Amino acid sequence: MHTQVAIIGAGPAGLALSHLLARQGIESVVLEHRDRAYVEGRVRAGVLEQGTVDLLHELGVGERMAREGLVHRGFHLQFAGERHRVDMHELTGGGAITVYGQQEVVKDLIAARLRQNGPIRFEVSDVALHGLDGERPAVRFRQGGEAHELTCDYIAGCDGFHGVSRSSIPAGALRTYQKIYPFAWLGILAHAAPASDELIYAYHERGFALQSMRSPTVSRLYVQCPLDDRIEDWSDDRIWSELHARLDLADGPPINDGPIFERGITAFRSFVVEPMQFGRLFLAGDAAHTVPPTGAKGMNLAIADVRVLGAALAARYHEGRDDLLQAYSATCLRRVWRAEHFSWSMTSMLHRFPDDDGFQHQLQLAHLRYTVSSRAAAASLAENYIGLAP
Ligand code: FAD
Ligand code: DHB
Repeated sequence: MHTQVAIIGAGPAGLALSHLLARQGIESVVLEHRDRAYVEGRVRAGVLEQGTVDLLHELGVGERMAREGLVHRGFHLQFAGERHRVDMHELTGGGAITVYGQQEVVKDLIAARLRQNGPIRFEVSDVALHGLDGERPAVRFRQGGEAHELTCDYIAGCDGFHGVSRSSIPAGALRTYQKIYPFAWLGILAHAAPASDELIYAYHERGFALQSMRSPTVSRLYVQCPLDDRIEDWSDDRIWSELHARLDLADGPPINDGPIFERGITAFRSFVVEPMQFGRLFLAGDAAHTVPPTGAKGMNLAIADVRVLGAALAARYHEGRDDLLQAYSATCLRRVWRAEHFSWSMTSMLHRFPDDDGFQHQLQLAHLRYTVSSRAAAASLAENYIGLAP
């Protein structure tokens, strides 16, 4: 088997890249080690920057998102018993974000790609990358008990943080930057109407909490928890009582409870490798970098990377230029580091740190008070939240 670009991983990065390449007449094969139902059911991000929304429309997969996605022009910061609205729209001269589940994006990308007969191979195992520093790399894998080899011109490593692509690069060729945080998020989906129709990011003495949503009848809620908590440690009653304690205000309607139908714990990690390339392997999305979820940047960065990679591969195939491919890593890393800083800053402002003796708490309150009282500080937050232009 041969293709022009072998894509490892059918997450947002790999799937969007397969569409970008197809629109340029470039062949690709997507290799995914889970089955389709698993990939489509994996509940994760929910906030799309305008650049992500625009790209999905350009790819012709934005129709359901336009119908079901919720456009938000502001969000709330809550602390010291008060809720403050950050008017993103006004502060950024018209910016907004769209709330639409990552797994809905993934479903739309898969359905459209299969309609075009684009090859996505689910349930492949033992993926191994070969010949990365030569002219003709290859991917070996197993599927249905058989061994296969796919030769290609380039490999896109879109297989997430735990994938095989990054670890196929010789150790000395990459520099790694990493920060681990001393807490996690417990996230739920519940059949409950969101009490606020905009997101609420809350800093509370008991820890961070976030009210988000997926539809007018489904709430998405997160609560900061200790790093080593297991999901079994959290009964439904305990989850709701923490959410109420951290999100309800004395003088407003409480958040709404309802049956919980999805739950999971997410660890926090800031991680970047440089460069995002080795020979003919290009890393994109979580395979190259992760951010803590507080700034809602992970999926947006994954999509921004493949927009750059798709354009660079098109220049290579159609104009015989490889300058954009050579610049790929540096181009992406400028946005990546901006998002790393923003995600770290939001995380630091909004979470309780277990080893804090009170000093950090006072700094956090000062940061929050400044953010909601200075137009310049609020505009900076809003500008980062809606995302950089492509
Ligand atoms: P992934 O989505 O991880 O996809 C990688 C794919 O590769 C997977 O399908 C995997 O099965 C496959 N794979 C792995 N190994 C192999 C292998 N060896 N062979 C073949 N296939 C393989 N981001 C935001 O932008 N906004 C948010 O609001 C947000 N909230 C989040 C909330 C939570 C709870 C979590 C967990 C994440 C959140 N993120 C958010 C981050 C976002 O989900 C990720 O950044 C995003 O999924 C990255 O996309 P990706 O395509 O790079 O990787
Ligand atoms: C959601 C997730 C986030 O990480 C975030 O910052 C905001 C919203 C969500 O899942 O809706």
